[in-house]
Amino acid sequence: MIHLYDSFWSKLSEIEIDPYGIEKLKKFTEDKLINPISGDFPRWHDAYKNLPEIESIEHCEISDAIECTAKNLDNSILSQVNECYKQLIPWRKGPFDMFSTYIDSEWQSFMKWQRIEKHLPDMRYKTILDVGSGNGFYMFKMLKHNPKLVMGIDPGILQIIQFWSIEKYINSGFAVLPIIMNDFPEEITTFDMVFSMGVLYHRKSPIQHLKQLHNTLKTSGELILETLVVDGNESTCLIPTDRYAQMRNVWFLPSVSMLEIMLQRTGFTNIKCVDVSTTTITEQRTTEWMKFHSLAQFLNKDKTQTIEGYPPPTRATLLATKK
Ligand SMILES: C[S@@+](CC[C@H](N)C(=O)[O-])C[C@H]1O[C@@H](n2cnc3c(N)ncnc32)[C@H](O)[C@@H]1O
Repeated sequence: MIHLYDSFWSKLSEIEIDPYGIEKLKKFTEDKLINPISGDFPRWHDAYKNLPEIESIEHCEISDAIECTAKNLDNSILSQVNECYKQLIPWRKGPFDMFSTYIDSEWQSFMKWQRIEKHLPDMRYKTILDVGSGNGFYMFKMLKHNPKLVMGIDPGILQIIQFWSIEKYINSGFAVLPIIMNDFPEEITTFDMVFSMGVLYHRKSPIQHLKQLHNTLKTSGELILETLVVDGNESTCLIPTDRYAQMRNVWFLPSVSMLEIMLQRTGFTNIKCVDVSTTTITEQRTTEWMKFHSLAQFLNKDKTQTIEGYPPPTRATLLATKK
């Protein structure tokens, strides 16, 4: 897999990024991919390698689904594509529509993009970091806006292989690196934009996470932060005693007002909340491509609370500029 990153490393070296930082990214990436911790890695890797070469790609379209079509593909190729993508189940983020295989992921991820896209700063020719990018669904969405480069980081090896399995046909030139935020090189401080969506509430130290995001940006760089919130004022923050909507690793759910103070204290200005939405069971649900329980099973009957008795999942998106 490591060779997949070759052209990305050359692209990185052409932009203003600290070369020592790039060396660290390479080393972390190689270490993780040479010693992957998941026992499923060989099966997933084989699924990626078995994806057929397709010369006749007509177009790749970034609409609600990320979509690729090709002319005159015979049935054996179509079923090979389908079988390879099936080996990469569960698909949490999507959908992807690849040569007649419709990957109906757990999340209708385009719904979040529709809510936030209109508020985003200009991405043309920008360098963008997507922290917790998962399988890169939103990175592919960014393609439409002509950024100079998009780099995702995510520790999930399955999500990374899913990314490469879509990138094989889309050819965006972007990459997802198997790196967690704590390992992100401190020398890299020149991104124009950083996205952190669905990550902050998983962090035991939200202030440290915001400081790390701040450090990745150049002065006047833009943060796009999306996270779970609760109703309340500057003093309100929910820390679940154990699980939240059955998730084990949920720590801090602040109010929007508290989040704004956290951003201000960590060196951001122009702080704006552009969206607050309660997640519905249309947006997050069990499908053929993610067969486990989903939001409907994590809420009470009338959907007014999680099954633990907390407010139902509500997400806020905030924009902020590095001072
Ligand atoms: C809830 S998903 C959000 C995915 C996507 N950003 C979205 O908004 O749909 C959280 C992602 O963050 C990743 N993640 C968790 N902790 C992380 C960390 N410390 N650094 C980078 N990514 C992390 C997870 O592997 C997962 O893919």
